This record gives sequence, C-alpha cells and structure tokens, in this order.
Amino acid sequence: GKIYVGVDMGGTNIKVGLCDENGQLLQTFEGPTGSDGSEAVLTRIADYVRKIVADSPYEWEQVAGIGAGIAGFMDIPEGFVKLSPNLGWRNVPVKKTLEAKLGKPVSIDNDANVAALGEAWSGAGAGIPNVVCYTLGTGVGGGIIINGKIYQGSTGMAGELGHMSIVPDLEAINCGCGQVGCLETVSSATGIIRMANDAVVRGDKTTLSLIENITAKDVFDAAKSGDEASLRIVNRAAYYLGRSMAVLAVIVNPQRFVIGGGVSKAGDILFDPIREIFKKYTPEAAQEGVDIVPAKLGNDAGIVGAAGLNLR
Ligand code: BGC
Ligand code: NA
Ligand code: ZN
Repeated sequence: GKIYVGVDMGGTNIKVGLCDENGQLLQTFEGPTGSDGSEAVLTRIADYVRKIVADSPYEWEQVAGIGAGIAGFMDIPEGFVKLSPNLGWRNVPVKKTLEAKLGKPVSIDNDANVAALGEAWSGAGAGIPNVVCYTLGTGVGGGIIINGKIYQGSTGMAGELGHMSIVPDLEAINCGCGQVGCLETVSSATGIIRMANDAVVRGDKTTLSLIENITAKDVFDAAKSGDEASLRIVNRAAYYLGRSMAVLAVIVNPQRFVIGGGVSKAGDILFDPIREIFKKYTPEAAQEGVDIVPAKLGNDAGIVGAAGLNLR
C-alpha cells in the first residue's frame, strides 16, 4: 500500500513519522534541527525522510506524499515560509526545495495548524467540529478548526495566535515577528524563561535564583512549591492566554480550546488560572458549553497531522 511521511519541524527538533492510508502512525524518527540556516535544515529534513523510509519495511516507491509542518507565517499557495520568528527564516521556498531534494510531492503548512489537525482527527478535538488549538513551546502557535477543517485564511497565516497583540504598551516587549506585546512574549516557554531571568536579575526573593539555566518546567515546579515570584510568572502567562481565549470565543465560537506543547504539561497550575480568566472575561452566553482541555496526542500530533496533509 501507499505510505505518507509527516515532518514536524520545530525550533529544536525535527520529528518524522510514517503513516499508512488510515493515518495510523507506523514509525517515528527524531533528529536535531540545527541553526545553520534554511538550506542546511532543509537538507537535513530530506535526509531524515529518506532515512525513516530506508529503516522501514517499505520501499521509497510506496511514499505517496510528504507533508511538513513548519513553525512560521506561511504562504501556502506559494509554498513559502514568509517569516519564522523562532527559526530566523524569511521567504524560504520550502515546498519547491524539498520537492527538488526528494522527487516527491510535498505539502506544507504551519506546525501548529498540523498539530491542530492531528488533535482534531484523533486527539482532544475528535468529534468536535469547531475547536481552537494552542501549542505552547518555544513560541505560541495556534490552529483554528472550523467544521473539522483548518481555517487557513487567504494565504495560510490564519491561526497565528501567538502574535495576537494583547499585552498593554506599558508592559509590552518586542516580539520576534517585529511587533510588540504579542501573546508569545509572555505565554511561550521562551517568555516564561525571560520573565524568570528578569525576576532573578531584579533581585526578587525566589528559589529560581538558585538555578543555573532556568527552564519553563523549573518555573512551574517552583510555583507548585509555593514560590511567589514563580506563581506570578505562571499567572501572567495564564492571564493572557485566558484573555486571548475570551476574544476568540466571541469571534470563532468554538466548543473547545485545546492546549498542547511542552508548556501545557504543567497541568492544573496553568489550566486553573486560564479557565478562571476565561470565565471572568467572556460573555456568559459565549462561554456556555465551552471547555478548555489539554491536548491528547502529545508529541505525535504534528507528524500525524503533517502526514495527513496529503490524505485530505
Ligand atoms: C510562529 C508560528 C508557530 C509558533 C509555534 C510562532 O512564533 O509564528 O508560526 O506556529 O511559533 O512554533
Ligand atoms: Na497556525
Ligand atoms: Zn509576535
């Protein structure tokens, strides 16, 4: 039978998966992304794709299509990544380049869009037509599912939830997209780490000052142990997520918000304040029957969704 390759390209790692015609994940492979520029990274993706097929019981001829989810503002009709704040890419012709390297049809989409698609098919969004998904990692990604399909917008940039400009000017800092006050600046792992380092440098009394290279997980752990500075940071990240959902609730009217990505593993300490803020700022009529839940597919949502780009 035919097989489909899904590539989930993040800032740190590239994940590759093989799926059958039913979207069943057969095999996975993961390797570093590298920070040596788009050409080198795309060569690496092509190598990983060839490798996972070579290491599988399938033949290269059976590969019917390759899908790639990439962290950045997409121009899907043109096959370009227009801007990737976290990869530092600008106008990279990903589709054309990968097709030339692999000699197979390549479909591209945003990393968070394909993760949302994965969740919609077989994860926390399964059976629910209208869902808004967030991915909280190096950046804040988003995917808006309407009637079971990703809402692309005119060029594929819809659902760039991390770049909702939402933090008031007095507290706003610059974002990698060129704007200020984006959700991503406070609710991504990067934002959480920055706020933690700021707290330490400011001399706040916090157990974080004992840690050498603070991670987002450190901040959540400290918050769970009652560290007040850490709690403030977590609540700030949650606050803007909740506010952004209140905005989306009246625009999109989804039945569910799904939150995935590494940061979402923090659990209740993150989800409780998000739900509280959502409740506080969303018109009552617009919050009825709406829930906010963690993603289900974890690490595999992206590769399954990417492989599915050629199945839909
Ligand atoms: C990018 C998005 C991406 C998200 C998560 C953001 O900075 O603009 O395209 O989905 O990070 O990787
Ligand atoms: Na998106
Ligand atoms: Zn931004």
